[in-house]
Amino acid sequence: MEKVSVKIQMVDLKSQYEKIKKEVDVAIQNVIDNTAFINGPDVKAFKEELEQYLKVKNVIPCANGTDALQIAMMALDLKPGDEVITADFTYVATAEVIGLLGLKPVLVDVVPDTFDIDIAAIEKAITPKTKAIVPVHLFGRCANMEEILALAKKYNLYVIEDTAQALGADYVFSDGTTKKAGTIGTIGCTSFFPSKNLGCFGDGGAIFTNDDTLAAKIRMIANHGQSVQYVHDSIGVNSRLDTIQAAILRIKLRHLDEYAAARNKAAAYYDKAFANNPKIKTPKRVKFSNHVFHQYTVQLSDVDRTGLREFLAERSIPAMIYYPIPLHLQKAYIDPRYKKGDFPVTEQLCNSVISFPMHTELNEETLKYITGNILEYVNR
Ligand SMILES: Cc1ncc(COP(=O)(O)O)c(C=O)c1O
Repeated sequence: MEKVSVKIQMVDLKSQYEKIKKEVDVAIQNVIDNTAFINGPDVKAFKEELEQYLKVKNVIPCANGTDALQIAMMALDLKPGDEVITADFTYVATAEVIGLLGLKPVLVDVVPDTFDIDIAAIEKAITPKTKAIVPVHLFGRCANMEEILALAKKYNLYVIEDTAQALGADYVFSDGTTKKAGTIGTIGCTSFFPSKNLGCFGDGGAIFTNDDTLAAKIRMIANHGQSVQYVHDSIGVNSRLDTIQAAILRIKLRHLDEYAAARNKAAAYYDKAFANNPKIKTPKRVKFSNHVFHQYTVQLSDVDRTGLREFLAERSIPAMIYYPIPLHLQKAYIDPRYKKGDFPVTEQLCNSVISFPMHTELNEETLKYITGNILEYVNR
């Protein structure tokens, strides 16, 4: 196939920036001119604009998505030894903060078609020590929140949504009403890492909640446990969103839905190209959530995945494995409770998934080149 003129990347932040460069450059310069680097007016404005976009009462900006998860768990007064259930198939940060706080990560498997945390497995894992469930809205689509909320109610558990990969996605309840990902459980957490759907130019994160008392506590913990200046009521952390990042995020937030539409257009192209190919299982759509395609991740069968990656790399097409190793088999999380074979779906996914370039700037010519090369290898 004839090569394309653009450099193909998993995420093309440069071209995205070019389109909003003028506005962004002015906003950054404005922060510098005012030297309002910490807690400047853009932080408050962004917080309020995100609250309106998400229709949530409180957004608390912080330094990154991992901090958001940690602060959320600290605010819920979870005690060492309390059990927190999360998916085995996720980015490490979700389980990392559970362990870091001396809580006990309880891993459960996911379901094969959707990569969602397995509801039946959650219920089986609940013990009298279980305090919270952390569903991950993986790759840009909500987990089955209605069923998770029902379990949380039955067993009196908190729900912390890891929304790092799905900001802007809509959850659709069975009565037809919708809520934004991250605003459904007790607390929602997100990341503004540059490659995220709403990404800044460095690190950033935020916490969401409709509970005002909890929000006050979260604000305090994120600011050294400080209630009034130099009065510290609890041990907290120092976790702030820089003003420069907030100024950039304010601009990008206005484009978030348009970015999701561009990602969906690329996903539709991939879907069509791979339709009916027995070796490529495309991402499943579900009734209860739309998709904002943080990643376009397929499952391969009867394809040498390493060979495909090498073949694509030789043609300047990147592809990534999210994620190659299940949490329960990571050295840091080795635990006598778990062994190889315990989470067969996650283990199988780790061996079969592959993610192709997905971002807001993919055009048909590039997608044709990418899919053409993928199919050339797969159909050999
Ligand atoms: C599912 C998930 N949770 C948490 C995080 C952590 O976010 P951050 O990198 O901003 O700390 C990420 C980001 O990579 C993520 O993908």
